[in-house]
Amino acid sequence: MTDAPRILSEPDSYALLKGYGITIPRHAVVKSTYEAVSAAESVGYPCVAKVLSPTITHKSDVGGVQTGIHTPEELTAAIETIIENIRERAPDAEITGFVIEEQVPAGIELYIGGKRDPSFGPVITFGTGGTLVELEHDITMRLAPVSPEEAKGMVHSIRHYPQIAGYRGTAPLDEAALTDAIQKASTLFTSCPEVAELDINPLVLFKEGLCAVDARVLMRPPVAAPAPSRPPLPKDLFLVSRIALVGASANPEKIGYAVLRNLLTFSGTVYPVNPKGGEILGKAVYPSLADIPEQPDAVIITVPNTIVPQVMREAGIRGIPLAIIITSGFREAGKEGALLEQEIEEIAQEYGIRYAGPNCLGLQVPRLSLNATFDPKSPKPGHTAFISQSGAIITTLVDWSLSRDIGFSAVFSVGNQTNIDFVDYIRLATADDYTRTVVLYIEEIRDGRRFFEEAAKVTLKKPVIAIKAGRSAVGQKAAASHTGSLAGSYEVYEAAFRQAGIISAENLSDAFSLAMLLGSEGYPQGNRAVVISSAGGFCVLASDYAERHGIRMTPLSDTLLAEMNAFMPDGWSRRNPVDMIGDAGIHRFALTFDALIRHQDEWDIAFVVSVPTATIDPVHLATEMARFSRHTDKMVVGCLLGGDSTAAGVRILRDADIPNFEELEDAFRAAGAAVRREEELKKRD
Ligand code: ACO
Repeated sequence: MTDAPRILSEPDSYALLKGYGITIPRHAVVKSTYEAVSAAESVGYPCVAKVLSPTITHKSDVGGVQTGIHTPEELTAAIETIIENIRERAPDAEITGFVIEEQVPAGIELYIGGKRDPSFGPVITFGTGGTLVELEHDITMRLAPVSPEEAKGMVHSIRHYPQIAGYRGTAPLDEAALTDAIQKASTLFTSCPEVAELDINPLVLFKEGLCAVDARVLMRPPVAAPAPSRPPLPKDLFLVSRIALVGASANPEKIGYAVLRNLLTFSGTVYPVNPKGGEILGKAVYPSLADIPEQPDAVIITVPNTIVPQVMREAGIRGIPLAIIITSGFREAGKEGALLEQEIEEIAQEYGIRYAGPNCLGLQVPRLSLNATFDPKSPKPGHTAFISQSGAIITTLVDWSLSRDIGFSAVFSVGNQTNIDFVDYIRLATADDYTRTVVLYIEEIRDGRRFFEEAAKVTLKKPVIAIKAGRSAVGQKAAASHTGSLAGSYEVYEAAFRQAGIISAENLSDAFSLAMLLGSEGYPQGNRAVVISSAGGFCVLASDYAERHGIRMTPLSDTLLAEMNAFMPDGWSRRNPVDMIGDAGIHRFALTFDALIRHQDEWDIAFVVSVPTATIDPVHLATEMARFSRHTDKMVVGCLLGGDSTAAGVRILRDADIPNFEELEDAFRAAGAAVRREEELKKRD
């Protein structure tokens, strides 16, 4: 086989599909009108004639397909028409023959495709087919292999699914045959590494069975499998107590100074290293790593790139297991940098050093008061691990988190991920007892398949939320096949996230809202919500937001309503949302909470929505909400809306581990995402 990609002819594509059990039409390959007429006798009328040409990709676009042929005369005319069309619309195309195939009965036109993503490997696409496939863009995709459950999920998730299930009195179509065909296409893809792209379009679905009436397969020699992964990191690798900083500087304008200044608060010991010796920021400076009296657990490196290999070797000789290389000027900077990066990797392998970066911001572990970065701000301790591919996002986010009282179990800047990569960080974060949720900011993952496989395991233990940069069309390379153009890299990431159980967030604010919700309340047990408020306007909005984000406003039982009626004023809503009227004081809220505790089998999520009023002190309300939350294992969500006046109440909620949202819709959006994820998790059990 040559290295150049080649497109299989339609008959060869059919043969491949048939080999994997996908139904194809009866057909014959002919060279002339005479042969066509005799072939049609065995294929049967009505039939279809198609041009056979190695250079024509989309036959219909150049008039290369004629349908509804009922007689030998019509067949002769059809072939002449095809030849004329090609002469006109694709004069350079070579016609090598024709395919005469049975014309299948009417059914709906669907599409099954596949491609090999450079990072994630084989991906299967399914959706509405026909000539408008790109325009409709009604598709879904999964990483292969696709399980029966996933194939079913694909079928159910397209917009045109009602047509398959039976729409407005039409009979349902053969869904079982369809899920089976998706799985067969997945098997074809995983078992034939030389199949690079596959298009079955259209795949016609009937009440019984289906038929792949056009197929296009691109073959390419398989690329080598990625290098085997390194052993997992020790669980406590980053929980260091002795840190050396090589490149410590007395010059306040240098990164080596900024990092040292941040390290002054570290609960462990810091050893600045600089050949000049002396003292910086009140700390004795060691001329080299060899001069430090005890072995550090980690070395942070802030010397220029060309000196990094030498420092790594010294660290190896000193037996230091972990390096954090902040220095840039490696692979990201070009060929010379790439060679340097290779050199440090070889040294690391030789001495068994694991390292973060290079070209990273560093590491922050707030509970150790460790800020091993040059970010001037240190985050607060909390239960969310943040793993980011952008240092700038970290500095911005940490600044933002301080005013919102959001804390972190750890903040990792992954840099070039040469040695420790996303998978390692996710594993570390999920193994960490302090971490309840993990948030990822991803630009690109090089070994997507490994990431996907590992993420699928860790998401069963802890929620992982990801923001993927690069949604725009830029970077989605044009390709000859439908899958190539439909399955841009962003869509493949989305598919991988969904399958691995990672929750995809639109932006940082949504990601951290969700992390806060899941970190404090865990997953909700269902989607039945009750809204408790004294603000009528927000009750109306809450109902809108609930509908928008898949939260069900559950009807309350007559018994519960009767109990509430006993203490509510005339004119209260008498239904969910529970609008207890604007003059509600703490007593009314407390009695409502008591009633909901008694009837907690009726709901899964309680949204407590309050606005600044003269009759409610947010501190009292927050204290009552804490009591409410303690007496139920259901999800309690605070929406203390307003400005500074709510701050003291919000602090009480935080101490009681109750999430609070400043924006009402954010609360419903986060709860909706949590509900969806919980439903998916149940399916995986
Ligand atoms: N051992 C210890 N110290 C040494 C050694 C050695 N072998 N050799 C030199 N040093 C000292 C230097 O003498 C200097 O100290 P001094 O100020 O007392 O003279 C210190 O190490 C730093 O060396 P400089 O040559 O002054 O280098 P400088 O500080 O200008 O730059 C740096 C070094 C910061 C690592 C730079 O090369 C760099 O990579 N900057 C970019 C960093 C970055 O952006 N990282 C990614 C962030 S994340 C993101 O998303 C952007």
